[in-house]
Amino acid sequence: MIVVVDFGSQTAHLIGRRLSDLGVEVKIIGTIDAVRKIENLKAQGIILSGGPVSVYEKSAPKINSQIFELKIPILGICYGWQLMAFLLKGLVESGKKEYGPTQIKVLKKGKVFKKFNVEKFGAWMSHGDEVVKLPPGFECLASTSKIKFAAAANFEKRLYGIQFHPEVEHTKKGKLFLKNFAVEVCGLKLINKSIEVGAIINNVRKVANQYGENSKAIVAISGGVDSTVSAVIVARAIGNRLILIYCDNGLMRRGTKKEVNQIFKEDLGIKPIIVRCKGEFFKALKGVVDPEKKRLIIGKLYIKIFERIAKKLSKKDKTEKFLVQGTIYSDVIESKGTDHAGMIKSHHNVGGLPEKMKLKLLEPVRHLYKDEVREVGRQLGLSETTINKQPFPGPGLAIRIIGEVSVKRAKRQQQADSIVLEEIRRAGLYKKVFQSFPVLTGVKSTAVKGDHRFYGEVIALRIYGSSDIMSASWSRLPAEVLQKMSSRIVNEVEGVSRVVYDITTKPPATMEWE
Ligand code: XMP
Repeated sequence: MIVVVDFGSQTAHLIGRRLSDLGVEVKIIGTIDAVRKIENLKAQGIILSGGPVSVYEKSAPKINSQIFELKIPILGICYGWQLMAFLLKGLVESGKKEYGPTQIKVLKKGKVFKKFNVEKFGAWMSHGDEVVKLPPGFECLASTSKIKFAAAANFEKRLYGIQFHPEVEHTKKGKLFLKNFAVEVCGLKLINKSIEVGAIINNVRKVANQYGENSKAIVAISGGVDSTVSAVIVARAIGNRLILIYCDNGLMRRGTKKEVNQIFKEDLGIKPIIVRCKGEFFKALKGVVDPEKKRLIIGKLYIKIFERIAKKLSKKDKTEKFLVQGTIYSDVIESKGTDHAGMIKSHHNVGGLPEKMKLKLLEPVRHLYKDEVREVGRQLGLSETTINKQPFPGPGLAIRIIGEVSVKRAKRQQQADSIVLEEIRRAGLYKKVFQSFPVLTGVKSTAVKGDHRFYGEVIALRIYGSSDIMSASWSRLPAEVLQKMSSRIVNEVEGVSRVVYDITTKPPATMEWE
């Protein structure tokens, strides 16, 4: 087993996920009492994760230095490496900040760079501090054009430190690096791993029965893959003890209501309850410009509606109701999932839940990443169209409209969104992009339309590739496809003067603008 010590990294679970995919048994633990826990678990390898703060900050999570005397191989990643260097008398300084892609030059292979067969490889960075002096006994294995010690090791003590993130998909040889650490350094044997849908279904049945033998699940569906997979799991687990609800709130993509009916009524034979609540949502969002406020308002309103319906239904059939949501692990992490993690956004179905929620909650795919949810969907026999749907945020297009969300602006966003999707499909690129959407930026610019001055809103297109959501890079779409989108948007969508293309990677930028 490899134990990952989580210092509040956005990607600690992803490190675990990568190792687990390789066939390594993994356990993620916090920093409290970590050394004793590692000994009890009889770990054969340790990974110290990244984290959001500097080792010099008061709040910086630390670890007992005894960890370096356990004679177990240790890999420090980013903050984990900086902490290792700091505790072993190296020097860490506020360095040349790097966020996003870089090239790592391998200077000495050791076991960790075995089979790399390249002098340089592309990797993802996300750091403010850097190790500027190695601790005694360490030597440098790799550098970038900005930092000297991108990788270093004390071979004798089997201690390794790296500044880059091998766990994110955009680090090209990241999996090989982690495999080398597990197999070559820690001496682990890899086992075959597969996702057990049956186990997930059994687990859901167990929890549902704990909520009451006759209890019923209210499943909030959006037509997206996470909620659809969750709903089908629940259907398989507890059959007709299932109530499907779709909130028709004006914040969804065009055509979503039709799609939801198609998936559930026509394909699965379960008729969803459609709640018309557009007025309620736009009223609640009136005058609200702060993204976090938008999220919290929307989250609360959803819950209010679900509770209202549960109450009404319970009056009739007198059974206990609980709420099922399609929360996935990236939602949990980005809404502050672990002890030391920084809060990025309060995803409405996690951080945005009211503290006093009357309904009990069940989240069948909470521990899975997007690509794993898709795999589960495939095993459940869902159509490829449903499985390959782009993720859509819980707060909907409200967080793709900077500033106030009015009915008029929502319509504009939906219209531009349809154009972008149409053109992506027409060009046969749908499966190549992870998400695509226009953002109403709230910025105005001058244009000339039919010889008249026109002062209208700027739309930004965000189109990118990713598979696990934790990192992303913008899609290199053919120029003619971008041109077509731009021309159609300025011509067809009222009030738009200009279209720009967002070329920021994640990190540092998040996918959504808000
Ligand atoms: P960010 O913008 O955080 O997005 O890089 C990561 C993924 O999550 C989606 N997203 C959300 N999903 N509630 C959700 O359910 C939210 O508040 C929320 N914000 C972002 C986003 O579309 C992307 O797939």
